[in-house]
Amino acid sequence: MSSSHEHPDPLRALSLDRLRRRTSAKWRTYPPDVLPLWVAEMDVPLPEPVARVLTEAVALGDTGYATGAGYAEALAWFARERWQWDGVAVDRTAVVADVMRGVVEVLRLVTGPGDAVVLTPPVYPPFHAFVAHEGRRVVAAPLDGAGRLDAGALEAAFREAVAGGRRAALLLSSPHNPTGTVHTRPELTAVAELARRYGVRVVADEVHAPLVLPGAGFVPYLSVQGAEDAFSVVSASKAWNLAGLKAALVVAGPEAAGELRRTPSEASHGPSHLGVLAHTAALRHAGDWLDALLGGLDANRRLLGDLLARHLPEVGYRRPEGGYLVWLDCRAAGLGDDPAAAFLERGRVALTSGPPFGAGGAGHVRLNLATSPDVLREAVRRMARTVGRERGAPSGAQSG
Ligand SMILES: Cc1ncc(COP(=O)(O)O)c(C=O)c1O
Repeated sequence: MSSSHEHPDPLRALSLDRLRRRTSAKWRTYPPDVLPLWVAEMDVPLPEPVARVLTEAVALGDTGYATGAGYAEALAWFARERWQWDGVAVDRTAVVADVMRGVVEVLRLVTGPGDAVVLTPPVYPPFHAFVAHEGRRVVAAPLDGAGRLDAGALEAAFREAVAGGRRAALLLSSPHNPTGTVHTRPELTAVAELARRYGVRVVADEVHAPLVLPGAGFVPYLSVQGAEDAFSVVSASKAWNLAGLKAALVVAGPEAAGELRRTPSEASHGPSHLGVLAHTAALRHAGDWLDALLGGLDANRRLLGDLLARHLPEVGYRRPEGGYLVWLDCRAAGLGDDPAAAFLERGRVALTSGPPFGAGGAGHVRLNLATSPDVLREAVRRMARTVGRERGAPSGAQSG
């Protein structure tokens, strides 16, 4: 892979004025005086190879339905290059509209109505919502105090989930949203061993996988011993900011291939042709852009630590190992169970509210690091103002 020196940091490419012209959720949910660091969109331009493939398709009027194995082949290539993993077999993949659609389709394969899906809170709120919407029960196996998978909690949850001979699944966020925890091979091996023992099927949501930061290494769940009957759901949407260009891949382990083939064709109705083209180009041709992004995120996670230590020492921060989402413990800041409400109202900075992440969410917020250092400084200034620590706060963002 190319080094980041060849590509400028995409997090520094766009001015705030230009970003405010965007019409996506991040920029249009709150009034223009609110600085948005909430939903998982990044303040970056598209990688040039992605923009090119889209522009060419539009020029050709090539805007029909998606077809072919190009996306899966690109993922297989990327997995070999980045993760030294040869386990993506194209005939064990299915293209779906997005990661959550893939998760739902797999949960329908391996569980029935009323069965349990184990979650590891605090975790991405749609996990709770989609599981409930599919008529499955959520059983919680909370992360431990260090934000890591807790084998004891998982075993207790598995036991409860399969009671009465019911089918059950574990929906894993790997890397973990919101803590940025990158699960290690021993941790994942322990999960696989427990899942086998209790007959629980594992679905690993690996949408943040390309975003693992220096110091950690991504371990594909399907590469773990004992995980041969599991599923992974992946997409280029988070790492290259393509959420508006719908496409994702379900990957089945060798023992789950037959089940994946039973997925009804309706499950693959949603992916957009432009999405498939964009995701494929990102995986194949935007590795140097990704490296530059990772360099910028690495710097931002350090900068955030410094800013918080200086201006908001009561806020607990553990540097994320992967992704661009950080989980801030504001329980000592005196802002109640939902500090995001106070940060929004008084500080005019939009962060993601903690309680919807489930157990361990109260008193927390999630902050999105995928922005410029100037915006990050301004966000901390606004947060400090919210808790009445205005003096000595860093200077504002430049919008030019
Ligand atoms: C863990 C996790 N899964 C899924 C998604 C959503 O992905 P998609 O838009 O492809 O459904 C996100 C988005 O932030 C996420 O963080």
